[in-house]
Amino acid sequence: MKNKSTEQLVHALDEKYSAINQDKNVYLEGLLHSKTINYWDYIQTDALLNLQIQRTNLPDEMVFIGYHQINELIFKMILWELQQVAKANVLEVDFFTDKLMRVSRYFDMLTSSFAIMQEGMDVEQYNKFRHTLTPASGFQSAQYRKIEFASTELINLIDARFRKSIDRNTPFEHAFEHLYWQAAGKDYETGKKSILLTNFEERYKEEFITFMKVHNSKNLWSRYKELSSENQKNKALIKAMRHYDYTVNITWVMAHFNAAKHYILANSGDGEATGGSNWQKYMHPKYQKRIFFPELWSVEEVENWGQNLD
Ligand code: HEM
Repeated sequence: MKNKSTEQLVHALDEKYSAINQDKNVYLEGLLHSKTINYWDYIQTDALLNLQIQRTNLPDEMVFIGYHQINELIFKMILWELQQVAKANVLEVDFFTDKLMRVSRYFDMLTSSFAIMQEGMDVEQYNKFRHTLTPASGFQSAQYRKIEFASTELINLIDARFRKSIDRNTPFEHAFEHLYWQAAGKDYETGKKSILLTNFEERYKEEFITFMKVHNSKNLWSRYKELSSENQKNKALIKAMRHYDYTVNITWVMAHFNAAKHYILANSGDGEATGGSNWQKYMHPKYQKRIFFPELWSVEEVENWGQNLD
């Protein structure tokens, strides 16, 4: 694009400020006094680099905090893209594919970088500092849950044992109580919840219910179903959706599970997770069978989901 002349710029500024009843000269005067921007002001490096506060003096705790914060930043970027898909008035297939590729690249990065967790900390140090973190757990990452709500139909996030008893007419509150992740801390016989779950819900339940309502008809799958039947057959799009589904629900989950095994089952570990779940059963994809887009997989693929991975 050709640069505007000074005259054109002054004219455009005049139009912009007259439209809101403002004197452009006052704004131009402001330019005379404004500071030039620096990298550190714009990226807020001072604020960002002051957020890594250890609870112990063990050096590898910094790896743990830093990597979790990187994950939360990337989760934010993923949600940024998913929200644009949810909000688009008219959803074009190219726009949809482009957004899916973006979120897939972010999740690919989170998956391949999980070695930073599995290989990057001293097991003994981990098994010391983690005791200062009980009863907290990455389980309590609200953004991770929001990514799930924004990706798929709610029914696919319901614990497989209760799916038949829940449909689109089920109140959100009731569906919430049967989300797959309740199994990490809820005794379904007594209804009693662990402190991990109670604390999480006290902080986020209302926000989640609102988010679930908004994305009930605006998640990736429901938006995909709004495309024309021809666009729904678009090979690049289907490939991108399957890739995203597999990366989030198999590859990332397995990288996470293997890291947990590496530390929690190590000689110095006691097998107890900080969040207190029956994690060996809870975390493996073959039990949860979480799939965002089950219709894009064959019956056999769904049946074998998460099998033969270890
Ligand atoms: C050495 C590193 C890690 C270990 C040993 C570990 C361990 C665990 C365990 C045992 C659970 C089950 C809940 C519990 O009882 O605590 C869990 C859940 C979870 N963690 Fe991690 N974790 C690690 C790193 C991370 C990282 C870097 C993230 C990224 C934010 C993360 C996010 C999550 C999420 C989202 C859940 C819930 C998963 C689900 O509901 O299926 N974890 N983690």
